[in-house]
Amino acid sequence: KKDMQQKLRCPIICILGHVDTGKTLILDKLRRTNVQAGEAGGITQQIGATYFPEAALKEHQEKCKGRLDIELQIPGYQIIDTPGHESFTNLRSRGSNLCDIAILVVDIMHGLEKQTLESLQLLLNKKTPFVVALNKIDRIYEWKSKEYNNVRDSLEVQEHHAIGEFKERLNKTILEFAEQGLNSALYWENPNPQEYISLIPTSAITGEGLPDLMMYISQLCQTVHREKLREKEEFECSVLEVKVIEGLGTTIDVILVNGLLSVGDTIVLSGFNGPIVTNIRALLTPQPMREMRVKGEYMHHQSIHGSMGIKISANGLENAIAGSELFRAANEEEVIHYKEQIADDLVDIMDKYVDKTSSGVCVQASTLGSLEALLEFLKQMKIPVTAINIGPVHKKDVLKAMKSIAGDIVEKEYATILAFDVKVTPEAQQFADDNGIKIFTAQIIYHLFDSFEEYVKKCRD
Ligand code: GTP
Ligand code: MG
Ligand code: NA
Repeated sequence: KKDMQQKLRCPIICILGHVDTGKTLILDKLRRTNVQAGEAGGITQQIGATYFPEAALKEHQEKCKGRLDIELQIPGYQIIDTPGHESFTNLRSRGSNLCDIAILVVDIMHGLEKQTLESLQLLLNKKTPFVVALNKIDRIYEWKSKEYNNVRDSLEVQEHHAIGEFKERLNKTILEFAEQGLNSALYWENPNPQEYISLIPTSAITGEGLPDLMMYISQLCQTVHREKLREKEEFECSVLEVKVIEGLGTTIDVILVNGLLSVGDTIVLSGFNGPIVTNIRALLTPQPMREMRVKGEYMHHQSIHGSMGIKISANGLENAIAGSELFRAANEEEVIHYKEQIADDLVDIMDKYVDKTSSGVCVQASTLGSLEALLEFLKQMKIPVTAINIGPVHKKDVLKAMKSIAGDIVEKEYATILAFDVKVTPEAQQFADDNGIKIFTAQIIYHLFDSFEEYVKKCRD
């Protein structure tokens, strides 16, 4: 009984999926907002966060009565929206890394698509639990819809042919999951959520199935994933995004998972030029049910408890690295400790992947996480690495690349910088051109590898 009384924090939920499957529109329908309509080209290009308070879950609970009865114990949801466009693997990876549970959105008319598979891989790699929203059911021919209906209630009133089409498309998707070696089933027919992926039919246009989605996640969080959601004293916080905001300067959007942050607190985080130590000037959140990435009125807080998406304003955040961990230091000793820890992270990666004694390529990426992913990939491909860095490619990085191949008789292909998801300054590019250093840039790890591989072939011919 005591076990049941211990407080749970808000689960952090990440929405992932192929482009245009309806991720943002699902959130809009839940928030009763119009974020998607305001996006350039209807495409999400940033990572976002929305807080859903407990009160917002109540209406969904009502719609699930008699179908999925559940006593709510979680204090709300923190939901992270991600882009589905292929260019934003890094943001999908960032979102999936810090969430407790994910919603993989699949368009029921299209089944599994390229970034569905990519997202699946991210989730399976990290063993992140997830459910599937089988979205756009309203597009089934002569579908009879009812706003925000429980989807099982909706299915009961459909004509024979609409049910037929639904089942046909459902089975096709189940087959596609099976081709990936995965079992899946409608959530109310799921014999074991630990073994089978739960499919939840939804429509972001009509809101059907959204009560099911919200309540089914609550149920999973309060049962099988309960342990992970217990409130802890340990501080846990990640940097979601680094952004310049008019009137505030450079701010960071963070997800505080556990613990407390207060105005004036000293924080330590990774920066492109080494660890950043600063004091919190302001703690801001959007209104509940409003998207953090959309300009709006922020609420100011003296202190905030996790889990919560928070915008932090402070000095010296210009070089902060998105995707990295943020520490709160209680005293000078802790500041030193966390600075060392941050420096050690890079050293650990160096030791594991970099061999300065032989010739190899230089590697640069936007975050520690993406750097590590890229290095792991190159290791598998047996491509040696002599130097690494985080952040934009500057002239000094080109200089490093030149040094790393100087003296020896080396393969031409190693006179190379592989730059993932970072900019190359014009001076650096010019300097590289003048000195025969080739810089490959890409937003997607495997594109980077493909172009490098092609280049290697050419060099050896
Ligand atoms: P990205 O973030 O760019 O990857 O897309 P997304 O997954 O967020 O999809 P988005 O919300 O932008 O929706 C894409 C298009 O599909 C829009 O034109 C939506 O109106 C439409 N759409 C989304 N959900 C539904 C749905 O349930 N039914 C129907 N009929 N259309 C939908
Ligand atoms: Mg979107
Ligand atoms: Na879109």
